[in-house]
Amino acid sequence: MFRRHRRLRKNEAIRSMVRETVLMPEDFIYPLFVIEGENIKREISSLPGNYHYSLDRLAEAIKEVEEAGVRGVILFGIPSHKDEIGSGAFDSEGIIQKAVRKIKEISKDIYVITDVCMCEYTSHGHCGIIHDHDVDNDETLEYIGKVALSHAKAGADMVAPSDMMDGRIQIIRDVLDDAGYKNVPIMAYSAKYSSAFYGPFREAAGSAPEFGDRKSYQMDPANLREAMLEIEDDINEGADIIMVKPALSYLDVIRWARDRYDHPIAAYSVSGEYAMVKAGAKLGYIDEKKIALEMLTSIKRAGADMIITYYAVEASRWIKNS
Ligand code: PBG
Repeated sequence: MFRRHRRLRKNEAIRSMVRETVLMPEDFIYPLFVIEGENIKREISSLPGNYHYSLDRLAEAIKEVEEAGVRGVILFGIPSHKDEIGSGAFDSEGIIQKAVRKIKEISKDIYVITDVCMCEYTSHGHCGIIHDHDVDNDETLEYIGKVALSHAKAGADMVAPSDMMDGRIQIIRDVLDDAGYKNVPIMAYSAKYSSAFYGPFREAAGSAPEFGDRKSYQMDPANLREAMLEIEDDINEGADIIMVKPALSYLDVIRWARDRYDHPIAAYSVSGEYAMVKAGAKLGYIDEKKIALEMLTSIKRAGADMIITYYAVEASRWIKNS
């Protein structure tokens, strides 16, 4: 006697009843790139379908996000000025701080997350303060704390440190608590790998390192157990949500984290994952919609509670119309 698995696959009605993973617009967080200047909505060549927005055109993006049913955005800034210490990252008149205030004016409902890092603001493109050709961990922490605080002051709903310095969650929690921002949660980029999948983003954000690479702070793609140590430390230091990044090549990391920890898990389906699908679809090799939804489903099935994806708006529309 063998089991007839196919009985429950007979038609869409029964398949939908036994389906274990269902994508919803509420699962997605949409990355938004804001730039200094006026009247700019410029398509990002490495991320087709995504744009650089100046503040005066942000309302268009927010409207699309809300209409698609997506509840949250994560902001990245392209400043007009960079320096050694990334001072634009913690300036109250910096591009992100202005963008947060602007979005809060546009909509009360959209949940605003900020990426806390320095690489878009430093002249050398690294995620912190450089000493002897390497990022100095402890000195960088002070700056990371300042960046997070400046975002909270601007009105960010949640801060998401992506720098990968050791001890950053503890510093950020302390700084926020001392300043009266006890209720601002931290989404920690806990297991952030040193990945070639970030290529298109670095072009979009102008954040490629001028020398060397990020291997002395971001994780080695070969390591899984080490990711659990990173996550454990971030939880102990006060992270509210833990993140695995990239997503598609790291589904095992998401699954291990899901099995071991009860914190909500975010997965960042990064620029390279998106760009590959866009390129493949443009060449006619793959069915974009089916591939994108299958990828997102697999990320949720692996254990992610929320997915940061450049497909957030498009995928939400597909889901609603299916
Ligand atoms: C900043 C940051 C990066 C990404 C998110 N935040 C780039 C990097 O670490 O080089 C990558 C996102 C993507 O590729 O979509 N540190």
